Amino acid sequence: MKTKTVFVCQNCGTQAARWMGKCPNCEEWNSYVEETAIPRSEQSSIRVQLAAGVAVAPVLLKEVDVLQDRRYMTSIGEFDRVMGGGIVPGSVTLIGGDPGIGKSTIVLQAGCALARTGLKVLYVSGEESVKQAKMRADRVAQSANENFFIVNEIDVETITGYIHQLNPQVVIIDSIQVVHLAELSSSPGSVAQVRESAAVLTQLAKSRGVSLFFVGHVTKEGMLAGPRVLEHMVDGVLYFEGERYSSYRVLRANKNRFGSTNEIGVFEMTATGLQEVLNPSEIFLCERPEGSSGSVVVPIMEGTRPFLVEIQGLVSRSAFGMIRQKAQGFDANRLSLLAAVLEKRLGMNLGDKDIFLNVVGGVKVMDPAADLGVSLAVASALLDKVVPHDMAVLGEVGLSGEVRSVAQIASRVNEAQKLGFTRCIVPKNNLKNKNDFKPSNIRLIPVATVKEALDKL
Ligand SMILES: Nc1ncnc2c1ncn2[C@@H]1O[C@H](COP(=O)(O)OP(=O)(O)OP(=O)(O)O)[C@@H](O)[C@H]1O
Ligand SMILES: [Mg+2]
Repeated sequence: MKTKTVFVCQNCGTQAARWMGKCPNCEEWNSYVEETAIPRSEQSSIRVQLAAGVAVAPVLLKEVDVLQDRRYMTSIGEFDRVMGGGIVPGSVTLIGGDPGIGKSTIVLQAGCALARTGLKVLYVSGEESVKQAKMRADRVAQSANENFFIVNEIDVETITGYIHQLNPQVVIIDSIQVVHLAELSSSPGSVAQVRESAAVLTQLAKSRGVSLFFVGHVTKEGMLAGPRVLEHMVDGVLYFEGERYSSYRVLRANKNRFGSTNEIGVFEMTATGLQEVLNPSEIFLCERPEGSSGSVVVPIMEGTRPFLVEIQGLVSRSAFGMIRQKAQGFDANRLSLLAAVLEKRLGMNLGDKDIFLNVVGGVKVMDPAADLGVSLAVASALLDKVVPHDMAVLGEVGLSGEVRSVAQIASRVNEAQKLGFTRCIVPKNNLKNKNDFKPSNIRLIPVATVKEALDKL
């Protein structure tokens, strides 16, 4: 029989009969690879065989046994919070990140922590030998545990065999790109292999109530190599991020069926593994220069957690008659807009100036409450007027130069207070009917416009 081949986009999984330079679905270039077509019937039979032994019948929704409050806790606070308050039994989570960022380390630490709570954990290491994993475990001082099993295996059928045999509550697959189904002829890491392997393992995990973790690699462009399709299949997608030359790592939920996606966890990579960073604001502010213009501290929110970040502005005369407005960690379009407000509403002369903005510490600020801080950083740099060292700034800026109220003002102000700030510029509207909100050690300075805020410096 002649084997039929199809061309599959390695980015989104779209199939086509011929090769194409650009995928019509996800618009990725050069992503089509020829693969052996798998007949539909064969696909489903593989899944049914491997997940065998599980009878599934419709049940009444009200009779479904919910294990809601029985989440597995790793006691790594930053990890549990990003998971939405612990790991839901039977959930499937994908952890993605750049090479060498520490994916294996975090799943190993979480796995060991779960094993210590009495859960049976199976760590399937496809990329490293059992010895390598043991060396890492020794380095990060995770004592070997009765309940922590490890195996070096990439064949999905064998892995499902181990799951049936061992009956673990938590399974970690490191990584999903190296495991493969022998039935499929395409190579490991291809869209077909990743999708089918993940489907088989997911189905098995769901039917047995096993919490499953997939580790996945991220490509240069920041996408999970190949399978975007995987993101739809799993319950949660976490990204492990970090700057190349910094030891800080951020775990961010991109999708979570059991919790908020706004939460982040901050870690530091050390010789003894990943350590939780309980007070990130301190790190972001520790190198703040004293008495220099253009530096403003803003309490931003990441999920339910406030962070203080330093925003730095620099304004210089443009050399070539073509002005540049560059922003690091902040939306450049938003910066242009705020600069236009300063120019038009406050009469500042920015028309022939280059404006640079930097958010210190590699943080990306999307919070509109940082608007006023950004405006003051630019204004402070232009006028060479220092923002007092003990002053934090809050407020969204509108096009007519008005300062608009921000959400969750109490936790933001409290965070500033906790770090020793004694004054905070806040939107006037936020204090209108907040009788109960009266912080003790920090003075609130209400403002209605950007001009008013500038006058308070
Ligand atoms: N002795 C050590 N001291 C400090 N940091 C170390 C030490 N050994 C390893 N690391 C850190 O651990 C990182 C590797 O962690 P890990 O193997 O968990 O990453 P990974 O994301 O799983 O990588 P891969 O993509 O190769 O699977 C290194 O990049 C390094 O930053
Ligand atoms: Mg690894």
